[in-house]
Amino acid sequence: MAEIAGITIRALAEKYGTPLTVYDEGKIRSILSSYRDHFTSEEFETGVLYASKAFSCKAIVKLIQEYGMYLDVVSGGEIYTAVQAGYDMSKAFFHGNNKTPAEIEYALENRVGTFVVDNVQEAELLQEFTKDCGYQVHTLLRVNPGVEAHTHHYIVTAHVDSKFGISFVNEDEIVQAVNLLKNSPNIVFDGFHAHIGSQIFDRNAFGEEIRKLFEFAVILKEKYGTEISTLNLGGGFAARYTDADAPIPTDEVCRFILETCQNEKQRTGVNITRILIEPGRSIVAEAGCTVYTAGFTKKTPNKTYVFVDGGMSDNIRPALYQAEYDAFIDGKETEPAETEYTVAGKCCESGDILIQAIRLPEVKRGDRIVMKTTGAYGYSMASHYNKLPLPAVVFVNEGTDRLVIQRETYEHMTALEE
Ligand code: LLP
Repeated sequence: MAEIAGITIRALAEKYGTPLTVYDEGKIRSILSSYRDHFTSEEFETGVLYASKAFSCKAIVKLIQEYGMYLDVVSGGEIYTAVQAGYDMSKAFFHGNNKTPAEIEYALENRVGTFVVDNVQEAELLQEFTKDCGYQVHTLLRVNPGVEAHTHHYIVTAHVDSKFGISFVNEDEIVQAVNLLKNSPNIVFDGFHAHIGSQIFDRNAFGEEIRKLFEFAVILKEKYGTEISTLNLGGGFAARYTDADAPIPTDEVCRFILETCQNEKQRTGVNITRILIEPGRSIVAEAGCTVYTAGFTKKTPNKTYVFVDGGMSDNIRPALYQAEYDAFIDGKETEPAETEYTVAGKCCESGDILIQAIRLPEVKRGDRIVMKTTGAYGYSMASHYNKLPLPAVVFVNEGTDRLVIQRETYEHMTALEE
């Protein structure tokens, strides 16, 4: 019988029901410590932001606060969650390609420390909104260095036609935005932000990004007389979903990034003093799993299906990105995996397949199917399709479990309906 941090999956399923998202809190803590300990440098001031889009709730924000880390928020809702968690909002970075006026006001009311400005129009709006905001708002400008990281095309964010940031090919626009930010009394312009994609295995993609950013900092300095202090390199560090995945270990990726930055600083001579990164997935993905209960099975000429009590409503990633996952049957870990199953959800959609093909021991109705590495972009991208209630989320640590998000009820789902 499998355990998570000293509690059996069976006990968790009996106590909280299924589908259930379970996080091993100790694993999150050890990854946070690892980023904190390894993303340090004698040359630069450094900082790690947790990209809360990967999994946002009060409990995780409190952990981020406990570890003294920065927070990346992309919407009024993520700001609200952080405020509710008691997070020090001066350490929050507000991202997004289309922040609404209401969200900008809300962020300023809550004294969000840094805005990551996406385009010239946002710079104009921010200039207007900060006139009487009562504090100095730090800003980074999101630029697009045009680095293609080899990942799913929906997740790539820095190609030339990306909806995010201003591309290096539009140098005039970058300069226009920088000047707007520099010439606003309540705005401090710190530097650039870029994010080149997600689930990146190849360190050279980050190396390329860093080189391009330093080279652009040279252009800004020499051609336009503007110096910057900060580069935020974004997130994108891969997680291990199946045996085929070999992410770069956290300590190595941290070292590689900071060494590359140091080399580029020497090569280009620009005086960057602060380097930030903002991992999301790599902090929470592997610490989480989803426990489902097996329902009916079905044989077709070419497949054996096992149906589970959740599906694309709690994990859209297989349907949206053809993402692959590993799973096991709780209590049958040592039985021979003789049958190839297709693990399908219960939504009314043929594409609601969680795992296309996986060898498992014979699955019986009532078995607990545990899908691994579901901690990032699972719950956060969940939907109410077919009016399936969102699962409960539990943190387990050193033999203690605690509910961090209640299971949704039918009443919750209709509470806003007239
Ligand atoms: N910073 C920015 C500006 C981002 O856009 C993202 C992710 C991150 C940081 C964090 O990236 P991470 O370290 O988690 O790769 N829903 C997709 C992933 C979308 C990522 C969007 N941006 C998925 O489930 O694979």
